[in-house]
Amino acid sequence: MPNLYFCIVMEILSAEYIKSSTTYKECPAPDRPEYAFIGRSNVGKSSLINMLVGHKNLARISTTPGKTQLINHFNIVSRSSPSQERKRVKWYLVDLPGYGYAKISKKARNNWGNMIESYIRKRENLICLFVLTDSRHGPQPVDIAFINQLGEWQIPFALVFTKTDKNKPAQTTRNVELFLQALSVHWEELPSYFLSSSAKKTGRKPLLDYITGLNMSYQKP
Ligand code: GTP
Ligand code: MG
Repeated sequence: MPNLYFCIVMEILSAEYIKSSTTYKECPAPDRPEYAFIGRSNVGKSSLINMLVGHKNLARISTTPGKTQLINHFNIVSRSSPSQERKRVKWYLVDLPGYGYAKISKKARNNWGNMIESYIRKRENLICLFVLTDSRHGPQPVDIAFINQLGEWQIPFALVFTKTDKNKPAQTTRNVELFLQALSVHWEELPSYFLSSSAKKTGRKPLLDYITGLNMSYQKP
């Protein structure tokens, strides 16, 4: 039997901004699978969302860290088209504010922590949290600490190493290895991971394939 999964190509039919929420309670009804993007300020979360859905300006991008402040929902309609089936699937992409941004007050950082923790832990349709880390650097303590915290909370996540266009491939490979080594101190099984460049559109298909697979196995909470 050929493996049908590899024949599936996701086509994005539409992507639209729905709303920005200050708490998980304000988020849209949890009636479809949801994927959120998190990571340090400026790591490229909003750029990656735009690259995945093929829109330049859906999520707001900025060279100034701290641009994304709220929980931003985008409704995506896609079609995964193996030969037998042409079915529309609706899902949410969520752009989250970055962590590790130095130029904010302690109070603002605490607010961020509370908002994100309750969103991550209570959002029942959150299927996968994509944790982005900059491929130009080795493992950053703030990322490792955040991922270890996800383990304690038992949140399903995958890693994305961003901005690979800014590095030589050998350096990216080295940084990925170092990152995984740092994780293996606390983790027996390592997470799925992806390499991306929003500038070069690298990583789009593997990420969309991964989401397709998760959408297919999604069961409403
Ligand atoms: P915050 O919302 O502030 O937390 O930032 P963010 O993580 O959403 O980052 P954003 O997508 O706004 O990108 C930050 C900067 O990095 C922008 O100047 C982008 O153009 C740039 N950038 C993002 N992804 C890439 C990439 O893959 N390659 C290159 N060369 N630049 C990128
Ligand atoms: Mg952003």
